[in-house]
Amino acid sequence: MAYPSLAGRTDRMQSSTIRELLKLTARADVLNLAGGLPAAKLFPMEETQAASERALARHGVRALQYGPTDGFPELRAHVAAMLPGAQPDQVIVTSGSQQGLDLVGKVVLDPGDRVAVAAPSYMGALRAFDPYEPEYLTVPSDADGIDLDALEDVLAQGPKFLYVIPDFDNPQGSCMPAARRERLVEAARRHGVMLVEDSPYRELRFDGDEQPTLHALDPGNVVHLGTLSKTLAPGLRVAWAVAPEPLKDWMERAKQASDLHTSTFTQAVALELLDDGILDARKPALRAHYREQCHLLADAVRQEMGDAFRFDLPAGGMFLWGELPSGSDAQAFFHTAIDHGVAFVPGGPFYANGGPSHTLRLSFAQPTEQELQEAARRLGRAWQAFQNGA
Ligand SMILES: Cc1ncc(COP(=O)(O)O)c(C=O)c1O
Repeated sequence: MAYPSLAGRTDRMQSSTIRELLKLTARADVLNLAGGLPAAKLFPMEETQAASERALARHGVRALQYGPTDGFPELRAHVAAMLPGAQPDQVIVTSGSQQGLDLVGKVVLDPGDRVAVAAPSYMGALRAFDPYEPEYLTVPSDADGIDLDALEDVLAQGPKFLYVIPDFDNPQGSCMPAARRERLVEAARRHGVMLVEDSPYRELRFDGDEQPTLHALDPGNVVHLGTLSKTLAPGLRVAWAVAPEPLKDWMERAKQASDLHTSTFTQAVALELLDDGILDARKPALRAHYREQCHLLADAVRQEMGDAFRFDLPAGGMFLWGELPSGSDAQAFFHTAIDHGVAFVPGGPFYANGGPSHTLRLSFAQPTEQELQEAARRLGRAWQAFQNGA
């Protein structure tokens, strides 16, 4: 077949080393602490089956016909009702919040534009923005989220927006206290920089009190992204962006060109589930599960690795993020870990402009209790071998 030359933007769509590494995690003998998959045992299987039938009965052919690009009006109203400060006409239903990230990049970024991101930051967001060829400005981040003093300098360099995950971020698990959120929102507004708030883990809080969304603090300067992926099931691909006009309108045009609309069937099913109060009903089970998993893995890793892996215990989400002793190479350790039958994600690729080599991310979401304990034992053995040069 004649193979056309590829568009220049594919240079920025590198097959990342991380993708190659993660292929190794699929081996049957490897316990996987690398993937970010939510706990499948919590998927609402029966509820979704019943909701599918109700959706077809209630909406008839509308549940299978083409639909409006910005989504079912009832679903948009439901989303707006969940978010203080949001209006239904600012909501656009997206195919995963991953699509929301792409749409923001598509309508806002020209090549060479600056985008501010936390260091480290969600790799999938960086990959969504990459094809629009931005220059990344990075802001250091700790267990309380991004460092506001460093942020002032970055905002002064005129990024088009700051991408931030205030609740239990991926990969760090950090959660920003309300005071930091207020200062962040104030600084962004003062510098005229829009905020993109990505919030997939917000409902997975298992300790402490809920903090306000950035969107609630300044609806006019924040694009908020939410999703059903972590609370119900990612296969629904039902998520939303809440954006001030005229951005919402531009995102809608971009979405129309990209996929016309999110599946009307899964929107109708999601609407049934939400109208049934499924989120509130399931929150206690979700939170209990993730709390238990988090503590299990944290205790087991402490026991097996001692001081060799230092981390802050998150108050929600799905990840333990930590550091090996400074100077260690987490990517090299990854290979030893795979040889010992356990996988994690080395931290390096989460840094848009490169970062320390000794960080790594463990996911506690999916494995069973026995698997988490065995995975920690394998990590401990792998670490011994790694130190002995094996
Ligand atoms: C921070 C963050 N944003 C967005 C996504 C994508 O979620 P969705 O399934 O809604 O596309 C993920 C998925 O892991 C994520 O961790």
